[in-house]
Amino acid sequence: MDNNICTITSPEELRACLSSAKAIGKRVGLVPTMGALHEGHVSLIKASVAECDHTVVTIFINPTQFGPSEDFAAYPRTLDEDVAIAAGAGADIVFAPKQHRVYRPGDSTYVLPPQVANSLEGEFRPGHFRGVCTIVLKLFNMTTPDIAYFGQKDFQQALVIRSMVDELDLPIKIRALATYRDPDGLATSSRNKNMNPEQRSQALAISQCLLAAETKILDGENNPQVIRDFMQQFLTDAGIDRIDYAEVADTESLDMPDEIVGPVVLLIAAHVGATRLIDNRVVTPDAK
Ligand code: PAJ
Repeated sequence: MDNNICTITSPEELRACLSSAKAIGKRVGLVPTMGALHEGHVSLIKASVAECDHTVVTIFINPTQFGPSEDFAAYPRTLDEDVAIAAGAGADIVFAPKQHRVYRPGDSTYVLPPQVANSLEGEFRPGHFRGVCTIVLKLFNMTTPDIAYFGQKDFQQALVIRSMVDELDLPIKIRALATYRDPDGLATSSRNKNMNPEQRSQALAISQCLLAAETKILDGENNPQVIRDFMQQFLTDAGIDRIDYAEVADTESLDMPDEIVGPVVLLIAAHVGATRLIDNRVVTPDAK
C-alpha cells in the first residue's frame, strides 16, 4: 500500500508538482476518470505505473459530456474511497479539480470532435463527444503527460481520442487497454452500482450476446445484418427491450461493413432499468 499519494485540486499546483520530475526527463502517465473507481480503472492505473515514472489519476465528473436528461447529478461521488483505490494501485497523484476551475463562467471554447464521433454514442448522446474531447484536451494541457491510458470498454471514445491526438498533433501516446470484466463476464462500470441484483443478472445478457454473436461470425456468418438481427433478438429474449444500438462496425472507422471479411467490432448500448450500459467485442473472423 502506498500512502504517499498526493491529492491536488488546482492545475497550477499540478504543474508545479510535476515540473521537477519532467525537468529530469521522468515519464508521466495520465489516467483520466470520472471517479467511482473500480477494477477497470485500476487496470489502467497499474499499466501506467508499470510504464511510467509518475502516474496522475484525474477524477472529474465532466458536466459537458452529459445530456440534459442524463445522470450527471446522480453520478456516484466517492472521492475518499477513490483516493485510497488509486493509492493502492500505485498512483502518485490524484488530480480532482473543482468544477469552477475547469469551466469558468463565460468560457466558450469547445473541441469539435473528429468524424469517428458521429455514429453510435454520438448519435444517441448528442454533444457527448464534444464534452469528452474538450475535457480530455484540457486535462492533457494541465498534465502534459507522455502517455495517456484509456479503456476499450469505451471503444468509440478511445478511437475519438486517438483521432483528436493525431489530428491536433498532440505529442502524447495513447494506450487503449482491454476491458476488465467481473468473473461472470459483466464489464465493470461505475454505473453497475446503480443496478439491483435482478437487474445485474439481466445485464449479463449483454456480454453473453457479444460472445454468442462472435461464435456465429467465427462459424462463418459474414452478413452484418444477420448478426445485428441476432443481437437484437438475443437481448430482447433476455428481457432487455430498450436497445440504443446493437451494431457491427469496422474497428478503425466504425463504418458499417457490407460484409464481414476482416476484424469487426460488435457494439451494444442498452438500458437495464434506469441504467444505460455499453459493451463491445472485437472479432477477427479467421481467428478460428
Ligand atoms: P470513466 O467512465 O470514469 O472511465 C475512465 C476510463 O476507464 C476510460 O478510459 C474507460 O474506458 C476506462 N474503463 C471504464 N470501465 C473499464 C473497464 N471495465 N475495463 C477497462 N477500462 C475501463 O470515460 C470516462 O470516464 C470519461 O469519458 C473521461 C475519459 C474521464 C472524460 O471525462
